[in-house]
Amino acid sequence: MFPTTFSPVRIGPLELKNRLVMAPLTRQVAELDGTPTAEMAAYYARRARGGIGLIISEGTYEVDELSCKTYLSQPGIANQKHVDAWRMTTDAVHALGTPIICQLMHGGRVSDPRCLFQGESAVSASDTQSEGWVLYTDTDDEKHDRGVQGDWPKVTFPPARALTEAELGKVADGFAEGAARAIEAGFDGVEVHGANGYLVYQFIHPKTNLRTDDYGGSAENNVRFAKMICQRVRDAIGPDKLITLRLSQDGVDDFMGAWPGGVEYAREVGAALADCAADALHWSSFDWTDNRDPNSDVPMAKAIGEASGKPMLVNGGIADGPGAEAVFESSTGVAAVVGRPLFAHPDWPHIIRSGMDYPWAEFDRKYVIQPPVDLGVTYPMDRRVPDWDPDLSKRR
Ligand SMILES: Cc1cc2nc3c(=O)[nH]c(=O)nc-3n(C[C@H](O)[C@H](O)[C@H](O)COP(=O)(O)O)c2cc1C
Repeated sequence: MFPTTFSPVRIGPLELKNRLVMAPLTRQVAELDGTPTAEMAAYYARRARGGIGLIISEGTYEVDELSCKTYLSQPGIANQKHVDAWRMTTDAVHALGTPIICQLMHGGRVSDPRCLFQGESAVSASDTQSEGWVLYTDTDDEKHDRGVQGDWPKVTFPPARALTEAELGKVADGFAEGAARAIEAGFDGVEVHGANGYLVYQFIHPKTNLRTDDYGGSAENNVRFAKMICQRVRDAIGPDKLITLRLSQDGVDDFMGAWPGGVEYAREVGAALADCAADALHWSSFDWTDNRDPNSDVPMAKAIGEASGKPMLVNGGIADGPGAEAVFESSTGVAAVVGRPLFAHPDWPHIIRSGMDYPWAEFDRKYVIQPPVDLGVTYPMDRRVPDWDPDLSKRR
């Protein structure tokens, strides 16, 4: 079944046994100081045992400054304690013959305000403020499960200030330092998170990048920061480790977001990334076949891949074998990246390969996670006010 999906592929320096990749999925089950746990090692090893060709870790903060940390109980790769603890995960996954890379991210203007240090302001490409969003979920089932009455609490983000050019270099160095630590922790490479509403996306998306210097105003300028990060990461970890750069047009505070210019902008972004130091680009969406462009039916990942000449990892709405195979039949990418189905079904690759009937569990109900930590800390279920005030007592 699904011959291309289950054929090997080389991406940069890595040889994958098949073309299925586990998407980065934030779970917020690290210690409060960002230290990865044994439970995380078990979770990743379980997905490795399920037959996936490559794992991309959940978004991980690389430094403890400039509002990099984005979520409570998010894992970090910001210090030696984090490095040592990630070893549990990388060793467990490698023992099952599966490579794993670390997704490095910076939240920018959508970092949870409770993760800011006292007096620290949120940062972004420009002086802007996110309109906020309802974290975690949107279903009545989950409200019921978490005991939430009425509206979900909505995060209110503080106004963000534009990073100076000197600070851009500092943030890029932070990615490079985090990447070096990730390699020390046993990862086979890193993914630079340029998608989903976070800092690097805030530069790439014209909606949030209002700069008039070399880092804004055109597709070429909008991706300059992402390229600078990838280059410094490459300098830090050398040619033998995988670097991917994740891109999207929607974000956590704008799920219906679309790039103005649609496929045409995607081509410009791709062309500007042709000489990027990343080995491959990764298109993130909830449905890769929907380009949200009324004037073209070319998938965004295909447009970016053709313009950049880079191999594409393709994510969004791939739920079964034919769905994975369609990525290759349409020549859109070299690998299919799967998120929510793997939350729910660690053996998803084995199951689709067997072709046998399987009683699929719904995967949209909490993504079948059982967080083992205090839900009152990780999730705002006991909050009485609908807004999280960034100025009050919640800061670390
Ligand atoms: C609970 C949850 C957590 C996520 N965490 C991350 C993350 O840490 N980094 C990231 O780039 N994307 C993250 N995503 C987006 C997924 O990687 C993926 O793009 C999305 O789930 C769509 O793919 P799917 O249809 O295969 O699930 C997350 C998605 C969900 C549902």
